[in-house]
Amino acid sequence: MYRNHFELTKKPFEISPDPEFLWLGEKHREGLAVLKYGILENKGFLLITGEVGTGKTALIRAIEREVKARAIIVTIPDPGMGLMDFYHFLAAELNIERDFRNKGEFLARFKRLMLEAFSGYRRVLLIIDESQRLNHELLEKIRLLSNIDLEGKVVINIFFVGQSEFREILAREENRAVRQRITVSYHLPALDEAETAQYIRHRLRVAGTQREIFTAPAVQAVHESAKGLPRRRVLIRHALKNALTPTVTVAAIETGTLLGGNMIVETVFGWPGLGRLVVEGIFTRNYPLVQAAVLLYAVTYVLLNLLADVLQTVLNPKVRL
Ligand SMILES: Nc1ncnc2c1ncn2[C@@H]1O[C@H](COP(=O)(O)OP(=O)(O)O)[C@@H](O)[C@H]1O
Ligand SMILES: [Mg+2]
Repeated sequence: MYRNHFELTKKPFEISPDPEFLWLGEKHREGLAVLKYGILENKGFLLITGEVGTGKTALIRAIEREVKARAIIVTIPDPGMGLMDFYHFLAAELNIERDFRNKGEFLARFKRLMLEAFSGYRRVLLIIDESQRLNHELLEKIRLLSNIDLEGKVVINIFFVGQSEFREILAREENRAVRQRITVSYHLPALDEAETAQYIRHRLRVAGTQREIFTAPAVQAVHESAKGLPRRRVLIRHALKNALTPTVTVAAIETGTLLGGNMIVETVFGWPGLGRLVVEGIFTRNYPLVQAAVLLYAVTYVLLNLLADVLQTVLNPKVRL
């Protein structure tokens, strides 16, 4: 419907990455240049990180196209797999016979291929997208792949692409060996408002219109609500807000312990207060006092829990009273 209305030849904002729509902003171009340099200079280990949706996978597509002629490229879209599955995937992509029975046989064939490529002046590039999903074992095995060299020369370049938390994974002590070998690293920041405007305009152009369909406030609204929000805002708006739900519940339940607990604290440490009064009331059989205190505790407890339940409905739209 809207396509006719806006005179578009195709849909401008499909979710699947379509190379035709690729827009290289300044940050993408810079990242691309850094990585291309790393690959062509045989730097070994490269890293690119960025928040979800900042265009990392789109950038991989661009790199593949740029270095295709000079490199054998294998891209692993999701490394959340076991070791043998990983070797089989590599073998399939590299046209290595897949009848190997163990990793030793695979590695021998893999090595032969690497050396052939090297003597044919072709680089080998292993790209691992979604690297934050790599487990430690696979990460180590990938590092060991790069030990294949020819007279000390790098024959395989490994390019990790992942969300920002991959940097935290690399910072762990157990991954020190991999971390130390990364020579080229780039972080792709989220788009700012001006870039968001350029990006939207670019996609509309590719879809066949020069019209300024998005007004400045519309661009601003897109930028505000887009997923590429700075991490801090995601944290405050989403993570902390969600964390409040259980906090409120636990706080309400804990008041029970607090009320009962103060009786013990006051008695044991000799600090006077309501708790002590109740204990004394029990010993002196002052029943009206004990009854009043129990009623007060119970009402406070019930009211606080009720308040917590009401707060839940405010904090969490999925909760209804
Ligand atoms: N530079 C870009 N040019 C064109 N489309 C892009 C660009 N960056 C992101 N996109 C689009 O945004 C969506 C998410 O991009 P993607 O590369 O998958 O992000 P990431 O891998 O960083 O999570 C895709 O639909 C993709 O087509
Ligand atoms: Mg991606």
